Amino acid sequence: MGAAPPEGDMYRRPLVAALGRISVGPGWHCVDLGAGSGEVSLRLAALVGSTGRVYSVDSSAALCDELARSAAAAGTSQVVTLVQAAEDLALPEEVDLVYCRFLLMHVAEPLAVLRRMAAVTRPGGYVVAQEPITTAGRVGGVPLSMPDARHPDIGALLPGLAVACGCRLVSAWAEAPAGAGQGPVASYLEELSGVDPGEDAIVLPSLVTVIAQKQAAP
Ligand SMILES: C[S@@+](CC[C@H](N)C(=O)[O-])C[C@H]1O[C@@H](n2cnc3c(N)ncnc32)[C@H](O)[C@@H]1O
Repeated sequence: MGAAPPEGDMYRRPLVAALGRISVGPGWHCVDLGAGSGEVSLRLAALVGSTGRVYSVDSSAALCDELARSAAAAGTSQVVTLVQAAEDLALPEEVDLVYCRFLLMHVAEPLAVLRRMAAVTRPGGYVVAQEPITTAGRVGGVPLSMPDARHPDIGALLPGLAVACGCRLVSAWAEAPAGAGQGPVASYLEELSGVDPGEDAIVLPSLVTVIAQKQAAP
């Protein structure tokens, strides 16, 4: 459960769009929840700079170790790795942004995790989640599925869940990389699912982005 996504981040574009939409910048304190090998954490570290902080949280100690090594190699002392279950997320401070990607699809109770994310966010700060609708993917027109995931289509519920956790919905959209023949989209699909698409048309699973803002206390 919860394997890191394949090399070559096919979902970089929605990630960059989401972080740009809320203007993540120098000095921000952020959480990358379910950080995996740290692609998102390192991007956040570059944006927040040496005056910011990125808590990279994952339940896997081995992945946290790997991420800490990558952060050290990149000279980013602002990255702090924490081995924690998302359900028990606890930090020494409230932060400006709590982000997750390809995490809620694997946890038992996505809404409970979103509530933890909101709990550690400062009032006016952001909760951002990017989760797939895996069955919206197609290879040669045939739907994909990821039966190993607990909630393979959690993306379809994400905007409602963000509202249910008490946040204000700022923006939400879905986006899917597509291609045909050999290339990065085919390689990504093959690593993800073991399916060799040959020359078939590929639409990878839609990624739903939700940007939500924690309300200030009344
Ligand atoms: C598919 S990977 C996504 C990695 C990264 N977010 C990305 O987009 O590249 C899912 C990650 O979530 C972690 N994970 C799964 N369940 C978790 C939980 N309950 N609490 C914390 N981390 C969890 C896994 O160890 C894994 O690193």
